[in-house]
Amino acid sequence: MASDNPFPESAEKNHLRIFHLQHALADYCESIGHPLSYFGLPSAEMRDVEMWRPLLSHITAVERDPDVALRMYRNAQKLGIRDKTVVIEMNLVEATKLLAMEDKEIELSLALLPSSVRDRITQVRRVSHHVVNLDLCGGFLYPSDRGESENAKLLRNLINFQAKQKTAFLLILTFALRDTGKDDYDSFITETLDHLNKLGINTSALRKHYTSTRSRVAEQPPNLRRLRFCVPGYLHKIAFDNFQVSSLGAWYYKTFYHAILFFEPRKGRSALGKAWPPIDEFKELLSAPMTRLKVNGVGEVIEEDLPAPSLP
Ligand SMILES: C[S@@+](CC[C@H](N)C(=O)[O-])C[C@H]1O[C@@H](n2cnc3c(N)ncnc32)[C@H](O)[C@@H]1O
Repeated sequence: MASDNPFPESAEKNHLRIFHLQHALADYCESIGHPLSYFGLPSAEMRDVEMWRPLLSHITAVERDPDVALRMYRNAQKLGIRDKTVVIEMNLVEATKLLAMEDKEIELSLALLPSSVRDRITQVRRVSHHVVNLDLCGGFLYPSDRGESENAKLLRNLINFQAKQKTAFLLILTFALRDTGKDDYDSFITETLDHLNKLGINTSALRKHYTSTRSRVAEQPPNLRRLRFCVPGYLHKIAFDNFQVSSLGAWYYKTFYHAILFFEPRKGRSALGKAWPPIDEFKELLSAPMTRLKVNGVGEVIEEDLPAPSLP
């Protein structure tokens, strides 16, 4: 049967779903004692949702392509999850902006939407999501002509939305290595390491690893190293006042970077907060393992550790 998905599947992607993501979801489900609400871009075939279905109580699916959204409804029906699925047909930046808005501001924006979309946004604004899975088929930054990258914007919106719900959540991210934000990544790395230097921390090994212009350092191409530092580091920074962020692992397969981060509402913060980055949390983030996934000659997926220096 022809695939219903408009993007490539792979053995590595499937391996991640079965052996890593499913475990992360199952552990979280067990720790809270009930099934999870899912927010993501499951696309036409809803393969992630299909595999994790027993662990999910609610699915918010965002999709900007109306044909794909229609096929998603049909597949949700086939999978028997139509009644727990809400499809928002909209661009993710726009959808997350509406979800993050304060109650007193939302009325006017909702009034401009068709009533079916308005009802779905209103419904989803009340849901506390435990899993956010973003596979946007592109790079992380891709700065737009209008300035800030759309992905940076939507991640901030999502974190603001989740902060209102005060719920711990897993954030699963997939980004293509090909990207145009090289200078932005490099300045984020340099500024963060400069800051740590000023606190008397020796960052020379990290600097060498993350800013080396050599095309390959220990099998890690430059953009993979940039993402390995910048994705968790940037998210930790923008979520800092509301969440403590930890890494449950990162992977590299074909031309993709993939990570699972856990966001826990911050407890007992003082009114003025702490200075970023807090060394202990940042050290832990940077020491999270990264694994390369490769298919061997007999079609098995092999895992290989990709080392990186950490903070002393
Ligand atoms: C790569 S697929 C997701 C695949 C899914 N994680 C899986 O493994 O089965 C991404 C889907 O999100 C949609 N999409 C990508 N960027 C989007 C955006 N900014 N807003 C809304 N939908 C988007 C695409 O049309 C596509 O259907």
